[in-house]
Amino acid sequence: MESPFEVLRLDSDADDAEIEQAYRERVKEAHPDQGGSVAEFQAVRTAYERIKAGYRPDEPITEGDSASDRTPSPGSAENSAQDRGRARDRDQTRNRDQTRNRARDPKVSSEVTYLNYDVLTDFGWETDDEDLLRKAAAEDLDEVDYGQFEVQPGQSLLEAAEDHDHAWPFACRGGACANCAVMLLDGELSMPASHVLPSELMERGIRLSCNGMPVTAELTVLYNIKHMPELEDLLLPPDPFENAYSD
Ligand code: FES
Repeated sequence: MESPFEVLRLDSDADDAEIEQAYRERVKEAHPDQGGSVAEFQAVRTAYERIKAGYRPDEPITEGDSASDRTPSPGSAENSAQDRGRARDRDQTRNRDQTRNRARDPKVSSEVTYLNYDVLTDFGWETDDEDLLRKAAAEDLDEVDYGQFEVQPGQSLLEAAEDHDHAWPFACRGGACANCAVMLLDGELSMPASHVLPSELMERGIRLSCNGMPVTAELTVLYNIKHMPELEDLLLPPDPFENAYSD
């Protein structure tokens, strides 16, 4: 069984920058749209989450978990209260991540949590703020700006949003613009091979909602990110398309 470091093809003394770099490369290789599979993709994500949660290269690997399903031997350092606490935290993180990142059953809906990018502007929040969702949940935001809905099997994220009466932006509905772009905060959305997003934006978790379908059972996205300056050149005027779809 591979350790989290082996899954990410990392040396055991890799620093944070090397871990991030390796994760980005492995996620690309393992993505179902890039020749990988859902199982491989989940394994890469789990390995990364385990390392970020404090996995140490000298920890034993046991069946059922690449990093933390193990029983401390009598007298080992992990028998200290501090290490037991760390192990408990790691297990809680692992259980949470396994639930959140579990592969979506194609016959079962996925749950999406969404946040409007405009809210970040209003509150002065940043997209890379790890507390973004906690902050959003603490505010009394309108349902237009923050909430959850289900994506049914076979639906794109945009179709599901519209089914729940949300007017998310779009133009072509065919992968040719960035009007419908969302930023992944958690989970993964599949993407067809043909789309306009350059690899730098894909690496930052930007995807298209009009043809992206959830790969994970849960998904958290920032929508309405077409106002981000880096997407400006990829936008199309929405009017002709909106008129065409309203005919
Ligand atoms: S609306 Fe144009 S790519 Fe989604």
